[in-house]
Amino acid sequence: MKLRGLLPEGQIVAGYIKGAEPKGFLLESGPAEEANVLNGGQLAAIVKKYNIDTIYNLAALLSAVAERKPLMAWDVQMNGLLNILEIAREQHVAVFTPSSIGSFGPETPHDGTPQDTIQRPRSMYGVTKVATELLSDYYFHKYGVDTRSVRFPGLISHVTLPGGGTTDYAVEIYYAAVKGEEFVCPIAAGTYMDMMYMPDALKAAVDIMQADPARLVHRNSFNIASMSFDPEIIYRKIQEHIPGFKMRYEVDPVRQAIADSWPNRMDDSCAREEWGWTPSYDLESMTVDMIEALRKKLAVK
Ligand code: SER
Repeated sequence: MKLRGLLPEGQIVAGYIKGAEPKGFLLESGPAEEANVLNGGQLAAIVKKYNIDTIYNLAALLSAVAERKPLMAWDVQMNGLLNILEIAREQHVAVFTPSSIGSFGPETPHDGTPQDTIQRPRSMYGVTKVATELLSDYYFHKYGVDTRSVRFPGLISHVTLPGGGTTDYAVEIYYAAVKGEEFVCPIAAGTYMDMMYMPDALKAAVDIMQADPARLVHRNSFNIASMSFDPEIIYRKIQEHIPGFKMRYEVDPVRQAIADSWPNRMDDSCAREEWGWTPSYDLESMTVDMIEALRKKLAVK
């Protein structure tokens, strides 16, 4: 929808898989096609039919789901990407494939995580994200395919609920607070992770693809950051706006181990220097916006 707002009507084709057909405004506002990343022939035909010049490859299993279904995660993340890169090479298409804070691992410096540093993740999600970065750079260096990417923090949105990520708690906490429910937090106090409000994430996805290629020293993938907090900080921030809100902990060992291996706070100075990245939201402005939007969505006064 963000891209449809920026380009003339009919120019953005929404890709979907069976069982997740677009509905409502997404369906009405432009073309949509079944585009399973595991079906290269299907993708190639769509690229040709619409003369597509850029693919946003958002198909992926998030970190906690990927630990439950590692083979499927590998298939979607890696074979899906390979299909897209091959089409990009043949039909001269630019490709954006997100990487993540999940591409880092326990040996990565956790504070001020540099752009270029140790990436030895131990989760399947992380393994596929590092491989995504390498394969995307390979296609750029070997074939000149215009691949670009950002390492997204945990993304927070009031529109679509995430599914099976380690950072999902930071979305779910707002739903609980607005519904007047106690929140049971699966991540331990003191666990810091980078997070980002969706409007900033969308801005990054657009800006990186519009950046002047002559300025890009890096491509796959850029650290981007806007805020970092632990469960206590976001809990107290929400309490400033919803004073009766309560939270308790029931730590999920799978998600906690993943969270412990991820950065506390990334250094995003390369993105700032090479393509002018700057976020607009901090924890306070995101919280105000999330609560207001969810009150409307859930029709709570
Ligand atoms: N939000 C993602 C996850 O938790 C991180 O990229 O899996």
